[in-house]
Amino acid sequence: MTYNEGMLRDGSLDNKTIIVTGGGTGLGKSMAAYFLRLGANVVICSRKTEILAQTADELSRATGGKIIFVPCDVRKTGEIENVIAKAADAFGQVDGLVNNSAGNFISPTERLSYKAVDTVVDIVLRGTYYFTLALGKYWIEHNIKGTVLSIATTYATTGSGWVVPSAMAKAGVLAMTRSLAFEWARHGIRLNALAPGPFPTKGAWDRLFPEELAEKFSFENRIPLARTGEHQELANLAAYLLSDFSAYMTGEVITLDGGEVLAAGQFNFLKEVSDDQWDAIEKQIKSATRGSKSSE
Ligand code: HXC
Ligand code: NAP
Repeated sequence: MTYNEGMLRDGSLDNKTIIVTGGGTGLGKSMAAYFLRLGANVVICSRKTEILAQTADELSRATGGKIIFVPCDVRKTGEIENVIAKAADAFGQVDGLVNNSAGNFISPTERLSYKAVDTVVDIVLRGTYYFTLALGKYWIEHNIKGTVLSIATTYATTGSGWVVPSAMAKAGVLAMTRSLAFEWARHGIRLNALAPGPFPTKGAWDRLFPEELAEKFSFENRIPLARTGEHQELANLAAYLLSDFSAYMTGEVITLDGGEVLAAGQFNFLKEVSDDQWDAIEKQIKSATRGSKSSE
């Protein structure tokens, strides 16, 4: 068994209909594929109709599962309501939502126009709370115990320069997750979030690790587990969080990043110290300790 195999047993998502925003590409597409394999009906939505159509066709052939696509800009409430209506028409009801759509790019913040900041914040934060609110109303009205999974980032908690609009927006997504998890628990609605480290996708790499930087930027050195994530690892966790196996978990944010976020640990610079240096350091510390004991 390896970490890039499917983890849950067949049928784990039977009879569930899950909407994946941004499901035409990248991590959204990989999650959609795994949900289909586990028996879910899947609805993918985003702005680019042609990409959605290609992905729906590819995943339907690859998995034999039931998938539809509905074009939608997550900043537009009418389009969101249309996705929910189409999903309910096609599959009877909607049970799960993955808030996965995002916009992001690296830039010194002082170079950003107001519109550039709005663009990222609106896709990530407004898109997420619009979709969650629309489905929450639908679930409460129809007495459905729905589940929301929002894809955040580790810097939603730590903060990060050069991606400030994204960091502000993803932090808002976490606040929404924790707040609504408490408020809507009485309706049986659960909300969780997943904070991925680097998982190679074209969308993220083109905008965050362009060639010039990628050459200087070694994931092997930066990430304690010395690799980037595999899409199946993230899909496994996402499927668990949408399935009934996680029925007792709500308001949680799970980091999946090979330990990258732990780099801030104050003494982690010691990873550069060799065994020979440790021999010398140990002697030095022990002799200093003996010296201080004898002078007591
Ligand atoms: C400065 C920029 C810019 C850049 C765009 N803008 N790119 N400013 N540097 N590199 C400015 C534009 O000049 C414009 O402002 C405003 O932003 C809107 O740009 P548009 O191109 O008109 O917007 P739009 O077509 O809606 O595209 C949105 C987008 C684009 C966010 C800019 O990149 C996109 O479609 N992204 C979707 C996919 C994506 O981002 N995936 C990555 C997710 S990875 P002005 O004032 O000039 O009009 C992620 C976390 C990864 O989220 C963490 C990794 C570890
Ligand atoms: P991606 O392939 O670029 O996915 C982003 C998706 O968002 C695209 O499918 C895009 O489709 C959609 N989208 C953008 N604007 C939209 C809008 N206004 N309305 C609806 N959909 C919109 O990148 P990814 O790497 O897979 O990212 C997926 C998620 O993982 C994001 O939430 C990202 O923040 C998160 N994440 C990724 C990484 C990583 O290393 N890859 C790390 C941490 C977090 P359209 O262009 O068709 O609209």
